[in-house]
Amino acid sequence: MKNSNRVKKAIIPAAGLGTRFLPATKAQPKEMLPVVDKPAIQYVVEEAVAAGLKDLLIITGRGKRAIEDHFDRSFELEHYLESSGRLSELSRIQEIAQLADFHYVRQASPRGLGDAVSAAKSHVGNEPFAVLLADDLMDIKEGVLNSMLQAYSNAPSTILALKEVSDEEISLYGCVEIDGEDSSGLKIVTGIVEKPDLIDAPSNLAVMGRYVFTPSIFEALNEVTPGKGGEIQLTDAIDIQLKNEPVRGFVFSKGRYDIGNKIDYLRATIEIALTRPDIKDEILKFIKKISLS
Ligand code: G1P
Repeated sequence: MKNSNRVKKAIIPAAGLGTRFLPATKAQPKEMLPVVDKPAIQYVVEEAVAAGLKDLLIITGRGKRAIEDHFDRSFELEHYLESSGRLSELSRIQEIAQLADFHYVRQASPRGLGDAVSAAKSHVGNEPFAVLLADDLMDIKEGVLNSMLQAYSNAPSTILALKEVSDEEISLYGCVEIDGEDSSGLKIVTGIVEKPDLIDAPSNLAVMGRYVFTPSIFEALNEVTPGKGGEIQLTDAIDIQLKNEPVRGFVFSKGRYDIGNKIDYLRATIEIALTRPDIKDEILKFIKKISLS
């Protein structure tokens, strides 16, 4: 693999206000809501690390300090756990700060996802990079990010994670127009529109929160003016980029949760709990009990 084809950096935008989850997110970042016993953003960080991305830039904003604290050492807590002999909890806590090289940049005001990604420019420089949206939890076993990075290393281009959604859902997502596929089975993306009405949707393929970008996305972002919802949309920058260079889509079908949505958040909690040997049996017993009553 040519060195220039290797993606090393991941950006995790986490500056959004989390209004869909009020009042839980009034005084804490939505990214810190627990799924079983880990904050949501830790799953996203672990997914990036599992895919080989160890240089992580988290885009934060006002009220997001808890995220930085979470991925930092906590000497008081470590001392307490050590002196009370709780060594497995101690090592679990210590491992969090060692997961990756964490960097942070603050987005001055929440002006949209495109603006958040722009804030990564000086950290990323002229390299390809991945973007992982913290609202989208992915089952690592499905290997979506891994497959996208592999596809990038075989043939560099911007690559979007795509999933087929129902007519009712398409207006919640970026939606792509496609024109066939390349020799590796990736879709050729010829257009993209942010949260279209069903009647304007070019397909049922929606962009999920995983992207691999060539660095020219920053030039495209410079050209973007406020779009849907008055925000600087990443989708609009992709639409500019695809007019100048190939953009491809990797289609997957399973293992994604939108944890900004209450029902999906609860589904994530239950399904992830069912993968955990320490609590699986109790949860199953509980589900059977309530489904019989
Ligand atoms: C963002 C993007 C959208 C994408 C979605 C995936 O929207 O703007 O294009 O489809 O994430 O979750 P948001 O859900 O942040 O409004």
